[in-house]
Amino acid sequence: MTETRPTWHKKLTIDIPAEMDLYEKLKTYQWNASTEIDWSRPIQNFSEESYAAVKGTYSREDYDRLRAQERAFTFTNLFVGEQAALALCAQLTNMVPEMETKFCLAGQIIDEARHIEVFGRYLEKLGADAPANEPLVELIHRLLDTDHYGEKIVGMQIFLEGIAVGLFQRFQEDSPDPLLRDLIKLVLRDESRHAAFGVIYLQDKFRDASVAERRQIEDFVAELWRLFNHATASPFGPVNPFLQETFKDIKHRLNLIGLELRS
Ligand SMILES: [Fe+2]
Ligand SMILES: [Fe+2]
Repeated sequence: MTETRPTWHKKLTIDIPAEMDLYEKLKTYQWNASTEIDWSRPIQNFSEESYAAVKGTYSREDYDRLRAQERAFTFTNLFVGEQAALALCAQLTNMVPEMETKFCLAGQIIDEARHIEVFGRYLEKLGADAPANEPLVELIHRLLDTDHYGEKIVGMQIFLEGIAVGLFQRFQEDSPDPLLRDLIKLVLRDESRHAAFGVIYLQDKFRDASVAERRQIEDFVAELWRLFNHATASPFGPVNPFLQETFKDIKHRLNLIGLELRS
């Protein structure tokens, strides 16, 4: 599979029917961030309950600024991650030979464009700046630079998107901000399809993979794990129990593809 010379088909042929089901879903569940999200609402960076616990230490304005800064760290890096997803799907669209796999990836490209749009609009509204996390950027570059489709898909759809989904679910449950909960609910609708795509495609491709091929991908995931641990050393702090749970999910999905997670 190479990126520069796609396979030309002479008619519509479908090799992986489960991917056509995903493609039907992605057409049905498209959404418009301009009309389905009420952007006129101000961002609520904290709940009254959480402020009550610190009001002896911070004024409301200072606490608001502090929480906005924390959000900016997380969402700047999610914003970068969404751009990485778009770039990787664009590469993969020309690498994979099957038509229905191209359809799923083309759909994911517009999904990721929408995610970049919503997180970009959210950051603009938040009005706080934060740097991109260099080890995370290094991890993303590692994914962009590999020429193995399996490494890209395991790295993006299973590993990075698995972590993003864990973070989104936590924000959906805990965030005091209705605007953020609304946009994350819509983003999660797309992300569940992306995770499903990774599992369906690699289950099919790796069914007859040799031990050496499996080992190559497992070693690659172990390297991503190391880079991610480095990334979370700053500014998110050490890998916490929430991330441990997320890693369990990633391990489960790798097992479905017939891969082991070696840390
Ligand atoms: Fe995304
Ligand atoms: Fe995604």
